[in-house]
Amino acid sequence: MARLLGCVAAGASLVRAIYLPGVAPIEYQDGASVDLKVNKLTSVKTQLPYGYYTLPFCAPPGGIQDSVENLGEILAGDLIENSGYDLRMKENRTCQLLCKKELTKDHRNQFRTMIEDNYLVNWIVDNMPAATKYIRHSDGGQFMYMNGFPIGVQRDGHYYLHNHMKLSFMYHSSDKYEGYRIVGFEVEPHSIVQATRSDPSSPLGSEAICSEEADAKLMDMDLHNEIVYTYDVTWAYSEMRWVSRWDNYLKMTGGQIHWFSILNSLMIMLFLSGMVAMILLRTLWRDITKYNELATAEEAAEETGWKLVHGDVFRKPRFGKLLVVSVGCGVQVLGMSLVTLLFALLGFLSPAHRGGLLQSMMLLFTFMGVFGGYTSARLYKVFQGDDWKTATLMTALFYPGIIFAVFFTLNLFIWAQKSTGAVPFTTMFAVLVLWFGISVPLVFMGSYFGYRKDAIELPVRTNHVPRQIPAQPWFMQPLFTCAVGGILPFGAVFTELFFIMSSLWQHQFYYLFGFLALVVGILVITCAEISIALTYFQLTSENYNWWWRSFMASGSSAVYVFMYSVLYFSSRLQIDKWVSIFLYFGYMSILSLLFFLLTGSIGFLASFMFVRVIYGSIKVD
Ligand SMILES: *[C@@H]1O[C@H](CO)[C@@H](O)[C@H](O)[C@H]1NC(C)=O
Repeated sequence: MARLLGCVAAGASLVRAIYLPGVAPIEYQDGASVDLKVNKLTSVKTQLPYGYYTLPFCAPPGGIQDSVENLGEILAGDLIENSGYDLRMKENRTCQLLCKKELTKDHRNQFRTMIEDNYLVNWIVDNMPAATKYIRHSDGGQFMYMNGFPIGVQRDGHYYLHNHMKLSFMYHSSDKYEGYRIVGFEVEPHSIVQATRSDPSSPLGSEAICSEEADAKLMDMDLHNEIVYTYDVTWAYSEMRWVSRWDNYLKMTGGQIHWFSILNSLMIMLFLSGMVAMILLRTLWRDITKYNELATAEEAAEETGWKLVHGDVFRKPRFGKLLVVSVGCGVQVLGMSLVTLLFALLGFLSPAHRGGLLQSMMLLFTFMGVFGGYTSARLYKVFQGDDWKTATLMTALFYPGIIFAVFFTLNLFIWAQKSTGAVPFTTMFAVLVLWFGISVPLVFMGSYFGYRKDAIELPVRTNHVPRQIPAQPWFMQPLFTCAVGGILPFGAVFTELFFIMSSLWQHQFYYLFGFLALVVGILVITCAEISIALTYFQLTSENYNWWWRSFMASGSSAVYVFMYSVLYFSSRLQIDKWVSIFLYFGYMSILSLLFFLLTGSIGFLASFMFVRVIYGSIKVD
């Protein structure tokens, strides 16, 4: 019984650890208190988040408390804390005093640097981020939502602080449930100078008087030694239902561009598919029938083409161990991506579920270690490797180690900047436990099963003496074929990549997982096809060193991804702090490495299957 209870408790804490916020609606009764939580201050310009209370904002009377909910949030650098705003369902307020603060010289400098770096305040109410509404005249006066609002503004060398907030909430009610659900949360930041007068009946001992003529009296930080923080609250009924309350936030990215991106990827795929179909159906079929009809010896002596290298085509490549490790890890990444996409399509990872995406990617990468270990073991057996322990250990440690090392180094830099984006050492430890406690054993388990199975049968025997490779024309040189090969998979994804980059670096929401799934599907097919086509051309010109090249042919698209990130950096971001530059390129190189493993192993596995099939269908004596 005790054990059962223990299990239940452990299960409950696990569920809490991977809890996703915003799954179920909350109903508030009339006058019920509604919590306003504050998240990190973010800046597109520095990419270094800071805790809300690093600036002299009003601390809640009961003290500051954290309410971070899951691993994904911590890894994303979220720092969610409580606040002193007193909100009650359906109770309007005007010019409510939050607190008064003295504005010291240090505070002034802190505010100034953060206003210069375009820092935004991020608030959360009922799991919805505060949005600032603005009208886009180019879109016919349609309103758009911006995520968060600026700390203050800088104009003609003067710094104005946003010290008065107009919070407007939308609520919805229906006879299906009791109470009210929050369906909208907008903030309009203002900079004003309020008067205060003592009021013994208020808990703060005074009250504020906000003037209506706003522009005459901006809160200029150079002219005042005290900041008065105030807020207005309005509650208005809305027809919007709870399930669609995220729609306004997600309007931010255009839908048409995604259709264009799909169309573009489809064209690339169709073009390639046509080419591969032509190879497979016409040339290859002709080759195979010709090879099999050749009866006499002198006819066989005049053979040309890929059949000639049948005695070498499965010759062990150089650095075979590294190749199987790369493919194993690539399969791990592939598994992670596919299952994450599936979860996303089922709606588990929408932006309403803070931290969910990152967290599930971490966990899935860990669990996919089984497939990584299995794949690398089976391939290593093909290469008749005798050092399976090293190969397995490398699969478990090599690429994850590189990624962890980069991540750890970047984290040190973030930490040195005292940013909340730094992952605390306890979380770092948790990541290490996931890696060494779960992922490494799973890789070994997978590789154990992989070795127990019979080796993959190869259709032709390898000769003792390697064949001479004839001189290759310039367009068959490895660098050239890889450079050409990588363009197509990259071309299939680059428009969607733009949106992913905006969500990573510009704090926009990414939610079109349906499009992403289509694009990933097209990417998989494109990688397979380009590698098969290039492998075929290579074998036709009697060059049998295809193992690595089939990996590189599609994997080289990662180089283009990295180049794209350089372009994005110079055209879209105004980052000038060197730590932030370092962060950007550090994370982009991790992303490119993952993309390299993913696309490379798809190309490799497809080519391997292709080569086995074509050499299995000819007669070799
Ligand atoms: C609160 O303000 C909103 C917007 O001005 C208004 O529609 C609503 O009727 C007000 N509610 C109350 C209880 O006064």
